[in-house]
Amino acid sequence: MDVPVLAPQVDETRIVAAGLVSPSTADPLWWRSAVIYQVYIRSFADGNGDGTGDIAGVRSRLGYLRDLGVDALWFTPWYPSPLADGGYDVSDYRAIHPAFGDLAEAEALIREALELGIRTIIDVVPNHISHEHEWFKAALAAGPGSPERERFWFRDGVGPNGDEMPNHWVSNFQGETWTRTTNPDGTPGQWYLHLFTPEQPDLNWNHPDVRKEHEDVLRFWFDRGVAGVRIDSAALLEKDPELPEIPDVVEVGKHPNVDRDEVHDIYRSWRAIADSYEGTRVLVGEVWMPDTQRFANYLRSDEMHTAFNFDFMARPWDATQLRESIVSMIAAHAPVDAPSTWVLSNHDVTRPVTRYGREDSSFAFATKRFNTPTDLDLGTRRARAAALLSAALPGSLYIYQGDELGLPEVEDLPDDTRQDPMYFRSNGVDPGRDGCRVPLPWSGQHEPFGFSPYAGTAPAEPWLPQPEGWAKYTVEAEAHDPSSMLSLYRAALSIRRATESLGDGALEWLDSEPGVLAFSRGGGFVNVTNLSGHPIDLPEHEEILLSSTELVGPTGQLAQDSTAWLRTQH
Ligand code: GLC
Repeated sequence: MDVPVLAPQVDETRIVAAGLVSPSTADPLWWRSAVIYQVYIRSFADGNGDGTGDIAGVRSRLGYLRDLGVDALWFTPWYPSPLADGGYDVSDYRAIHPAFGDLAEAEALIREALELGIRTIIDVVPNHISHEHEWFKAALAAGPGSPERERFWFRDGVGPNGDEMPNHWVSNFQGETWTRTTNPDGTPGQWYLHLFTPEQPDLNWNHPDVRKEHEDVLRFWFDRGVAGVRIDSAALLEKDPELPEIPDVVEVGKHPNVDRDEVHDIYRSWRAIADSYEGTRVLVGEVWMPDTQRFANYLRSDEMHTAFNFDFMARPWDATQLRESIVSMIAAHAPVDAPSTWVLSNHDVTRPVTRYGREDSSFAFATKRFNTPTDLDLGTRRARAAALLSAALPGSLYIYQGDELGLPEVEDLPDDTRQDPMYFRSNGVDPGRDGCRVPLPWSGQHEPFGFSPYAGTAPAEPWLPQPEGWAKYTVEAEAHDPSSMLSLYRAALSIRRATESLGDGALEWLDSEPGVLAFSRGGGFVNVTNLSGHPIDLPEHEEILLSSTELVGPTGQLAQDSTAWLRTQH
């Protein structure tokens, strides 16, 4: 029988010896260099044996996260929710989904993590709430013209019977953005706006209740010790109140529902709240924005602290493209004095080992398809090189759970287990995001691979099935294998922590042949990433700190699709 490995126990003496009182107050600039690990709570670890990840599971694995070397955890939404969109449909911000635990457990987790020097970042989803949230239920019950409906975007339909949608905006999840309600007497009623699924009605940010409620929610969680919030769909909150059709040519800052100039007022008020707390409480934006100048506007000194750098994440494995992204993103951040973030993936996108193993290794939601040929060995090799490259770049680093194990995207989930609305709303054309959300394998040879504990009898089935071949990806299998992805991540994060010039700071490009990304971070630290297609000589160095593949040839060259970290004379 498989026995799950126990997480290393919390060593109190070590905490006291390290003088770790409250890291939130200890280093006001922690967020500029932090390594932040994204916990998709349903799939991280199951503490109570029901096949769904939970807070108890995370608490039992805090030792793993400490040993990995992360500075903060970002939790995807853990609130009560019908889970129509994996929890991004929140029905109550001041509680925890019963499947994940309760508020007392969340508070304990925040405390215990802090004792290990790990801060907690939570997710807030201000653009929309769940259709099961009290506000929306009240709005439906109160009927047209009621103050309760003013918090949303209810409109009469167009046409003689009002049976045409108020406009033709297209959803981020494909398809329509309006759903018609039914009046209490059974007749067809008004329509309401939802940029995502019908279960996620959009809030009206011109309404004072909406603003006040979110400010209170921020305080609620800051009061509980969270060190920051990740702001979902942060550029979408403001809408043109006339709800016009999207014009062919959009004036900058005046798009009917994206990146409107007024959205910045919201984040200024949030920043004031964050700044009123002891320690640095950070605002991290999910801002998908092709215009880097407009992106950087969110990071002005009285707005958010950082935002996800999706430009880098979406680029293909190509030296020119990656260099262009690095240069332009660093340049975009400079005027607002914000550090860039470096992100290889998250719960919405294809796992790096899979993506980098494809002919087109860029990422775009629109091009995700089933049966895309993939060379996993190649993808894994490149993902290892990308892991070191991204950890060497200036700023903070995000790691999505499971990437440190090199998990591939699971593409053959049985259709009846799929949950993601992106799959359903595309009528099964888009594989959706379930494939990167499969529960983590911790130990053993068979499902649930230590994800759920054995409760005496048969283990619970994970909420999404794990592939049979995942024994080789378990934490147990990788922990003691020096060539594993986990060992690479542990070594990289430990070097990053010990190297003062890594994290926030400057980068200096070094001369290199085409296809090579070579830069110095000061203090003698040099990163060389070889995408040239053939082995290359390394620059002069005193020591190889780490390398994503073994060096080759009699002179110790860096093989293709590899990164080496060097210590050079400076
Ligand atoms: C963000 C989240 C995604 C969610 C969407 C709607 O993009 O990352 O998972 O579906 O917002 O809330």
